[in-house]
Amino acid sequence: MGAGFLHKQLLVCFSAFLFLLVVIIHQDAPGTLQLGFLGALRGEPVSAEQRQGSPTFQWRGTEEERAGDSMPVPVPSRPPATTRHPLQVVYPYNYRFLLNEPDKCRDRAPFLVLLVVTEPKDITVRNAIRQTWGNESAVPGVSMVRIFLTGVHPRYGSPLQRLLEEESALHRDIIQQDFLDTYNNLTLKTLMGMEWVSTHCSNASYVMKADSDIFLNVGFLVRQLLQPQLPPKKDFMTGHIYRNTGPLRSKAYKWYVPREVYPNNTYPPYCGGAGYVLSGDLAKKVYGAAQTLRVINMEDAFLGICLYKLGISVTNSPWGLFNVFWLEYEKCRFSRLVLVHHYGPTDLLRVWPDFQGGNKTCPS
Ligand SMILES: *[C@@H]1O[C@H](CO)[C@@H](O)[C@H](O)[C@H]1NC(C)=O
Ligand SMILES: *[C@@H]1O[C@H](CO)[C@@H](O)[C@H](O)[C@H]1NC(C)=O
Ligand SMILES: *[C@@H]1O[C@H](CO)[C@@H](O)[C@H](O)[C@H]1NC(C)=O
Ligand SMILES: *[C@@H]1O[C@H](CO)[C@@H](O)[C@H](O)[C@H]1NC(C)=O
Ligand SMILES: *[C@@H]1O[C@H](CO)[C@@H](O)[C@H](O)[C@H]1NC(C)=O
Repeated sequence: MGAGFLHKQLLVCFSAFLFLLVVIIHQDAPGTLQLGFLGALRGEPVSAEQRQGSPTFQWRGTEEERAGDSMPVPVPSRPPATTRHPLQVVYPYNYRFLLNEPDKCRDRAPFLVLLVVTEPKDITVRNAIRQTWGNESAVPGVSMVRIFLTGVHPRYGSPLQRLLEEESALHRDIIQQDFLDTYNNLTLKTLMGMEWVSTHCSNASYVMKADSDIFLNVGFLVRQLLQPQLPPKKDFMTGHIYRNTGPLRSKAYKWYVPREVYPNNTYPPYCGGAGYVLSGDLAKKVYGAAQTLRVINMEDAFLGICLYKLGISVTNSPWGLFNVFWLEYEKCRFSRLVLVHHYGPTDLLRVWPDFQGGNKTCPS
């Protein structure tokens, strides 16, 4: 009996050691270790919806870091300090456009507007997207507009601004508002895109919000899913749909949503942020609804909240079209889906010639 007890104790110690090891391995930065460990100890859920990526919790740094930044331009908006939680998204607020493209839709009503989320420093990423799925003339006979969405870098706003202005003058495809470009301000980027569509491109049939780390098969999206020969759908939104999920309440996670920001324990159904498609009319309605709601820091879940408020449901897409997890590239498989998550610029440039190439024909 005594030996059995000792044996159990050893087992417990050993499991605890393994557990600690796993916790440590899963942390990027030493600073986040404690939070992650405490969160895990409290038994908080790892993820309500199996999101990927490493947990990094960053809001703490933004204000202090900027205190040492003496460069004058651009000056990001500093909404008045109130008692709001640091993760509370400041909205509605009169953010100014530092870069805008008001004339893109003056002479055309695009079938599809691609709103691509990037950070100011992501020049390589934007160039790879311009050369691959973001090519506006990739689908013959279909009018497309590509717009990159950015905010202001929290620390290197000024030096990056000059580069961004040059890039913008060259490609005329970047819009930027004067909010801090941080993970927890992502919803502001999406709303800037919805604002841009509402104000400057309200005759677009469809709008796609896309992350910059995806493989996107625009041809399939346009021809198979949206079908330009049909009248544009109304009140339509589709993507990879999450149902019955809720906010993550542990500070250890990149996707932490405090109760002060969103009190409910569940989200309405919503489309995963890697890439989703809306009808042009709905983009305007979502923008309108956002003016009346408490904006939360999870942009995809927030769009679900807007739809819920509007009394509009998300539409299911055939299974397997929107892949929020990475898949190994295979031409014929990729020719029958809309998106695959976790494709960086190097991967995109590597697979694109084969994807476009006519060497191998795939059964349709
Ligand atoms: C975009 O696609 C067109 C048509 O396939 C092609 O001629 C052009 O070179 C492409 N542009 C870029 C930047 O890759
Ligand atoms: C979001 O941007 C606003 C405006 O620039 C800024 O005041 C706020 O600190 C930012 N929030 C986060 C969480 O970075
Ligand atoms: C498209 O809408 C914009 C405003 O959103 C307008 O300025 C433009 O004239 C329209 N273009 C066409 C071709 O209808
Ligand atoms: C949040 O909960 C309240 C109270 O139960 C409910 O009235 C409201 O509709 C919920 N909101 C969402 C977006 O689910
Ligand atoms: C197409 O096939 C030719 C001959 O087999 C080959 O040389 C070329 O590299 C291939 N191109 C692509 C894009 O796979």
